[in-house]
Amino acid sequence: MNITIVGTGYVGLVTAAVFASFKNKVWALDINEKQIENLKSGKIPFYEPGLKELVLNAIEKGNLQFTSSYEQAMAETEIVFICVGTPPKDNGDYDLSYVYKSSELIAQYLNQYAVIVIKSTVPPGTNDEITKIIKSKTKIDFDLASCPEFLREGAAIEDSFHPSRIVIGTESSKAKRKLLELHKQIPGPRLLCNVKSAQLIKYAANAFLAAKISYINSIAQICEKIGADIEKVSRGLGLDPRIGDKFLKAGLGYGGSCFPKDTWALISFAKRLGYNFNFLKQVDEINKQQVDYFVNKVVRLCDGSVKNKKLAILGLSFKPDTDDMREARSILIINKLQKMGAKIFSYDPVAMTRAKTILKDVNYGDNPYDVLDKSEALLLITEWDEFKNIDFKKVRKLMKNPVVVDGRNIYDPEKLRELGFRYEGIGRKIQ
Ligand SMILES: NC(=O)c1ccc[n+]([C@@H]2O[C@H](COP(=O)([O-])OP(=O)(O)OC[C@H]3O[C@@H](n4cnc5c(N)ncnc54)[C@H](O)[C@@H]3O)[C@@H](O)[C@H]2O)c1
Repeated sequence: MNITIVGTGYVGLVTAAVFASFKNKVWALDINEKQIENLKSGKIPFYEPGLKELVLNAIEKGNLQFTSSYEQAMAETEIVFICVGTPPKDNGDYDLSYVYKSSELIAQYLNQYAVIVIKSTVPPGTNDEITKIIKSKTKIDFDLASCPEFLREGAAIEDSFHPSRIVIGTESSKAKRKLLELHKQIPGPRLLCNVKSAQLIKYAANAFLAAKISYINSIAQICEKIGADIEKVSRGLGLDPRIGDKFLKAGLGYGGSCFPKDTWALISFAKRLGYNFNFLKQVDEINKQQVDYFVNKVVRLCDGSVKNKKLAILGLSFKPDTDDMREARSILIINKLQKMGAKIFSYDPVAMTRAKTILKDVNYGDNPYDVLDKSEALLLITEWDEFKNIDFKKVRKLMKNPVVVDGRNIYDPEKLRELGFRYEGIGRKIQ
C-alpha cells in the first residue's frame, strides 16, 4: 500500500519503518527540513534500539522515503497517519495546533480517496474538528480513523512488531477494511470500535498506568514509616493475577512525553465535560511530591545541607534505553538541588547531548566513576543497566562521603551497608 506518515518523531519514524518493512511504499514527512535531510542519510534524530537498522534496511529496499513536501508525500497515498506532537500547554491543557495544521495541509494536497488516521494522542472528539478542517479545504472523499499508539520508548520496535493490541477506531467500514489489511502481518488482538472509544482507550490506559505508579509510591511512604520493605510488598501485590506485577515499582514517579501530559489532558478534558477527575488530580499530586520527598532525603543524608557539595547524578533520561528528556525527573531534581547550592556532576549513557540543551551549570563526565570522584553523594535517577553493575568497592574509595540515594531501588541495601555506605532507597527500611 502507499502510505504517508506525517511527523518523524518517536511514533512517526517507528511507524514508517515498521510499515515499510512489510513492503509498503512509505513516505515519511516532516516540516523539520534539517531532520528530513539527516534521515535521508540514515541519521536518526533520537536514540531508539534497533531503529537505525530498520530504517536503513527500508531505505535500501526502496520502501521508505523522506520528504518535507506534502505535495510529494500525498501524491499517491491511500492511508495517511498523523503522528505529530500534542504537547501540553503550561496550564496542563493539550495543544492540538500541530494536529490541526497537519490536517489542513493533508487536505490541501489530497489527490484521491484516502483514510486519514490519527495516531497522535488526542482527546475524544478531536476528529469532529479535523473533519471540519479537511472538508473546508477539499471536496475529495476521505474517511477518518483513530489508531492510538501504545509503543514504549526504548522498546518501540519490539512493541510495534508484537503489540499488546491494535485498536482501530472508525465509523467507516471501508476504512476498517483497509486498516485491517494494512496490519495483517502484525500479530496481536484487534479491537474495533468507534473513533471516540479508540481515543479514550489511549488516555485511560496511560492514566491508569500513571495511577499504578503513584499508588505504589504512596505505599512506599507507608513502608518507610513502619520499617516494611516496598520491594517485598510490591512483589506480594504483583503475584495476585487480578493486580499484575507491572508498573508496581516504587521510585521517583513517572516522567516522559506521555504519562504526565496524558494525565493532565484527561483531567482537563473531563473538566470541559463538567466532571471533576479528583482521582487523577491526586495521582498527579503524588507524582509531584515524589520529587520533594527524594530531594529532602538527599539533604538529610548530606547532614542537613547540600550547599557547595558535589553530588553525582547517575542517569538523566526519563527512563533507561532512551535519550528522551521530556518531563524527566532528573530536571526537577537537579533544579531543586542547584537552588540549594549543590554542585551537580552527572553522567548518562545516551542522554547527555539532549540534557546539555536543557540543564544549565551541570558538569558532565565520561563515565560514572568520573562524576563520583570526590563526590558527597551518589544519586541514582535512571536505572540504566550500566549502573546496576557498578564496582562499589572502587566507588567507596573515590567518594568523599559514602552516601547512596537510590531513586529506583536497584541496589542491594545490605551489600552497600556492608561496604560502608549510608544507603537509602525508596520505601525501604531506613537503618
Ligand atoms: N513518544 C511516545 O512514546 C509516544 C507513545 C504513544 C503515543 N505518543 C503520541 O504520539 C504523538 C507523537 O509523539 P512523538 O513522541 O513521536 O512526538 P515528537 O515530538 O517526537 O515528534 C513529532 C514530529 O512531528 C513533526 N511535526 C510537527 N508539525 C508537523 C506538521 N504540520 N507536518 C509534519 N510534521 C510535523 C515535528 O517536527 C516532530 O518531528 C503524540 O501525540 C504523543 O502523545 C507518543
